[in-house]
Amino acid sequence: MEAGRNLTPSVVKRIAVLTSGGDAPGMNAAIRAVVRKGLYHGLDVVGIKHGYAGLIRGELETLDLGSVADIIQRGGTMLFTARCLEFKTPEGQDKGVQMLKDHNIDGLIVIGGDGSFQGARALSARGIKTIGIPGTIDNDIPCTDYTIGFDTAVNTAIDAIDKIRDTATSHERTYVVEVMGRDAGDIAMIAGLAGGAESILIPEAQFDLNQVLEKLRKGAQRGKRHSIILVAEGAGRGMKIGEDIAQATGWDVRVTVLGHLQRGGSPTAFDRTLASRMGAHAVDLLMQGQTSVMIGVRGKDLIATDIFEALQTKRAIDLSIYDLAGILSI
Ligand code: ADP
Ligand code: F6P
Repeated sequence: MEAGRNLTPSVVKRIAVLTSGGDAPGMNAAIRAVVRKGLYHGLDVVGIKHGYAGLIRGELETLDLGSVADIIQRGGTMLFTARCLEFKTPEGQDKGVQMLKDHNIDGLIVIGGDGSFQGARALSARGIKTIGIPGTIDNDIPCTDYTIGFDTAVNTAIDAIDKIRDTATSHERTYVVEVMGRDAGDIAMIAGLAGGAESILIPEAQFDLNQVLEKLRKGAQRGKRHSIILVAEGAGRGMKIGEDIAQATGWDVRVTVLGHLQRGGSPTAFDRTLASRMGAHAVDLLMQGQTSVMIGVRGKDLIATDIFEALQTKRAIDLSIYDLAGILSI
């Protein structure tokens, strides 16, 4: 059916979308879904560039079907992203509300992490209908099994680990690989399990370097000639851990910090699908007049949780996966 032909009753008529905080592969797919689902229902859809900073500055432009053509496969965000200190202040938030009112926008979709959701909540409290979509490679948001971008980042990390293992095997070396995750060990844990890392260090589980060394030595005694230690950045700096292992063992240790390459790249089918579903659902919720909720996924189902409740919820990582990785890498 053509856009605009399905004129469903809607509480909102003109909606906007922005991306905020760290970018994540799949954000473009979510923007595309918001725009096309909105147009399908006859709404006007506006893109806000540079997150909350662009909202305050008035960087708004109307989006049409063609505006989001050829982006579903692209990493990054066509709306750009930013971190904006001013928006953390009541004055900054008031400016944002005024800008939305000046442009007759009655609903906003925010794609970002928990910081961005704090901003979304502030806008809801000021009367703007706002829905949050979790987009961050870290997977560190409560009330959802997955965030957009996590699956792609994990696959990027696994690809890197596989390549590092080739050279580690050839040179019979120990490698420390540092992956992203400022406060969360999800990327390290899943990439470590799927990549067969010998040890995984994450902020959610206490570790003792002596145990890591003990495992390395035992492996060496039974003929293991190379190892990969995966470190989430929130658990410690890879460089330091590599130096400590080299000093304690006298072995040839190399360190690779994967860094921001984990944030880029074409999103996986999983992330594109998740983003498309969440983007479309966010439009449905706005049309129903809902506000101050974040969308999540539990199993196969999309769920909606009050943003305030979500921000209060402590997220728990599934340590059974971490334990399994430890067992399988004996
Ligand atoms: P993420 O959304 O990925 O967690 P940040 O924590 O950097 O990234 O937050 C992104 C932006 O969200 C910030 O630059 C700021 O503009 C806004 N933000 C963060 N915290 C708050 C807050 N407490 N109140 C209002 N806005 C906030
Ligand atoms: O996107 C999340 C994240 O990748 C964290 O894991 C990391 O610490 C942070 O962003 C770094 O982002 P930036 O360099 O943009 O501040």
